Amino acid sequence: MRGIILAGGRGTRLAPMTAVTSKQLLPIYDKPMAYYPLSVLMLAGVRDILLISTPEDLPGFRRLLGDGSGFGCRVVYAEQPSPDGLAQAFIIGDPFIGGESCVLILGDNLFYGGGFHAAVRRASALAEEGSAVIFAYRVKDPTRYGVVRFDGSGAPASLEEKPARADNAFAIPGLYFYGPGVAEEARAVKPSPRGELEITDLNRRYLERGRLLVERLGRGVAWLDTGTPESLHDAAAFVQSIQDRQGLMIACIEEIAFDNGWIGREELAIAAERSKESAYGRYLRELTQRA
Ligand code: TTP
Repeated sequence: MRGIILAGGRGTRLAPMTAVTSKQLLPIYDKPMAYYPLSVLMLAGVRDILLISTPEDLPGFRRLLGDGSGFGCRVVYAEQPSPDGLAQAFIIGDPFIGGESCVLILGDNLFYGGGFHAAVRRASALAEEGSAVIFAYRVKDPTRYGVVRFDGSGAPASLEEKPARADNAFAIPGLYFYGPGVAEEARAVKPSPRGELEITDLNRRYLERGRLLVERLGRGVAWLDTGTPESLHDAAAFVQSIQDRQGLMIACIEEIAFDNGWIGREELAIAAERSKESAYGRYLRELTQRA
C-alpha cells in the first residue's frame, strides 16, 4: 500500500504564523506537525510515502524528512501549485500510486488513542481487497467538516460536505483508504461550486456502488485538527500532557520504525545524535539502550 500526506493549502487561519512557512511545518509541542500524520501511515505499515505540498514549501519538507531512510521509509515529493481540493492528491499522485491501494492523510490531522492502531491496520487490509474505507467521529460541531449519516442498520446512508445542519451527522476525519484505481475515480470528479475536487464527491462514488466502508472511531480515540491558533495550542497541550504522564512519545517516527523492524539501533543512534540537545534526542538515546 502507498501513502500520501497532503500538506499544501494556504493556512490562512494561522496567519501570520504561516506567512513564511507551511502550517504542517509548525510545531505541535515538541515536533513538527507533519510527524503526526507520518506516524499514522507508519503505524498502518506503510513505508512508501508521497508528500504533496506547495512549490514554496516543498524544500522545507525535503530538508526535514529527506528520502525517508532515517526512519525506514521511502519518501518522495510532488507539488500542488494551488489548493484545488483533497481529491486532487490522487491525480497528482497517480504515477506514484501505480495501480496499488493507497491511503491519504491530511498533514494537519492528529490521531491518538486505544484501538486506533488496530483500526488503521483493519482499514488497510480492507482497502487491499478493493474497498474504500473512511472513518466517522463524533464532534460538537460537524458543520465544519465532510459528514456521514447512517441508516437504521448502521450502514452509511449519505455524505455531505460542510452541511448547513448537522443533526445525526458524524465528521469524517482526514484519513482515507482506497483500493487500486482511485486515481481514475478522482479524475471523474467534477469541481464543486467552490472550485475544488472534493473528497466527499469521490467517496460518494464509492458509496453509490456499495463499496464504501465507514468505521466509527469511538470516544477512546482523540482526533484533533490543528488549523486555528486555539486548536494548535490545544493539540500541543494534549501531546504535552500525555507524554509527560506516560514518559512515552506520540509520533516519534524513529521509534515506530524501530518497533516495526525497519531500522536498527545504529540508525536510532544517528537520529539521537542529530537532536542530542533536545528531549526528543534524549528519548531516542534511551531507546537505543532498551532491551
Ligand atoms: P484546510 O484546513 O481546509 O485549508 P488550509 O490548510 O489551507 O488552511 P486555511 O483554511 O486556514 O486556509 O485544509 C486541510 C488540509 O488539507 C491542510 O493540511 C491543507 C491540506 N490541503 C491541501 O494540501 N490541498 C488542498 O487542495 C486542500 C483543499 C487542502
